[in-house]
Amino acid sequence: MKVFSVENKFKRFWDLFIFLLATYCSVDIPFWILFPYTQTGFFFFFEIFISVAFFVDLLLNFRTAYFKNEIQITDPLSIAKRYLGSWFILDILSILPLELFIEYGIVSKDLLFLCVFRFLRIIKLTSSIHFKRTWGMHEFDSTSFMRLGFLIYWISIFAHWTACGWIIIDGSAGAVTDPDTLTRYIRAIYWSVTTLTTIGYGDITPVTNVQTIYTMCIMLVGAGAYGYLVANIATILANSDIIRTQFVDKIQKINTFMKYKKIPAEMQKAILDYYDYIWKNRKGYDENQILRELPPSLRMKVSIYLNSDLVRKVPILKSASDDLISKIILNLVPVVYMRGDYIFKKGDTGHHLYFISKGQVEILAEDGITSYGVLSEGSFFGEIALFMDTPRTASIRALDYCDLYYLDKDTFMSIILHYPDFAAHIDKLIKEREHHNKSR
Ligand code: CMP
Repeated sequence: MKVFSVENKFKRFWDLFIFLLATYCSVDIPFWILFPYTQTGFFFFFEIFISVAFFVDLLLNFRTAYFKNEIQITDPLSIAKRYLGSWFILDILSILPLELFIEYGIVSKDLLFLCVFRFLRIIKLTSSIHFKRTWGMHEFDSTSFMRLGFLIYWISIFAHWTACGWIIIDGSAGAVTDPDTLTRYIRAIYWSVTTLTTIGYGDITPVTNVQTIYTMCIMLVGAGAYGYLVANIATILANSDIIRTQFVDKIQKINTFMKYKKIPAEMQKAILDYYDYIWKNRKGYDENQILRELPPSLRMKVSIYLNSDLVRKVPILKSASDDLISKIILNLVPVVYMRGDYIFKKGDTGHHLYFISKGQVEILAEDGITSYGVLSEGSFFGEIALFMDTPRTASIRALDYCDLYYLDKDTFMSIILHYPDFAAHIDKLIKEREHHNKSR
């Protein structure tokens, strides 16, 4: 069975489908616990259907790639290890149709608490960054209606849970005496909304100790959530984090532009994905612009510090002299490529040598299909065209988001001229690479 990529369309809609089923469970189960109704006919089959769907989902989880530091991991063993160590147990527990088991006396009522796992499944889905991104909730897209909808969704679910809790502890129905099920529920949800939003009219008040403690807890959660909201707005208003604010501002401008120009949704998503990546990896800073403003000696120190990671990753640099390293590092220019982008194509004129700091690229023949191999972090490419003064001998395509650094041709050639050991190393590597390609 194949491994689904994170972008897979089927998986995307499958996750949404599971999300909807989990939402149904999170509304239905607390209700069923409070006002048990017999699950016959449609409800019976629907419970079985949910169990089957959750089971299929469990299997699919073993075959779904995941992101590690924004790099897609597709190795089935790593996927299985990660899954077994995270949500696997919760997923297993949520497969069982415990309501039916309890109803038909297969398991004891004491196991009722296990039903919780079934509806807690929504926490798993909604906490997945990828799920949010796929459905248009990018971290900086504060204009997204989806984000707003999602917040309202969570508040509604939480209000439902707290209302059910209020009924369990026999919360007062206010002025209504001897209320029916529906009235009890409506009064309870009214209580929960007014308490969560800290409005608290005081027409439904706690009577027993348990109710009072429960009310206080909900008030604290409500106040916390309210504080969180106010703090967020205050941060934006106060512009306390200029870089973040500028970044958000930039995203908003881009958003407006994309909508104005009616850029297709897929392309809009790719652009927002890119900016998410840039923020996560660089916090929106232009490294080179900052470095340019520094005096040369300091620039050198800072550059070496900033690129120490790259020097550690690239074997050819590890053994190089400090002098050579600083010459290379001072001239490196960072550049990001997105999944599927061609960095260059076979036959192009070569202007740069590239180092891979993060991500993977594929070396392709002219047909764009035949692959000579994959290069990952710590490797470099593009040396043949510069060294031999020929057109590019292969095409290079990014397999993930790639953080690359490039060195321009003049700097590379001057290094070759002044550092014969380095030149010999490159010469040897070129022969090996050419030999490898000929043998394919
Ligand atoms: P260049 O010819 O400038 O552009 C294509 C690059 O792909 C080439 O330089 C090498 O850096 C790289 N390349 C080609 N073949 C291989 C290979 N077999 N292994 C690793 N890198 C390769």
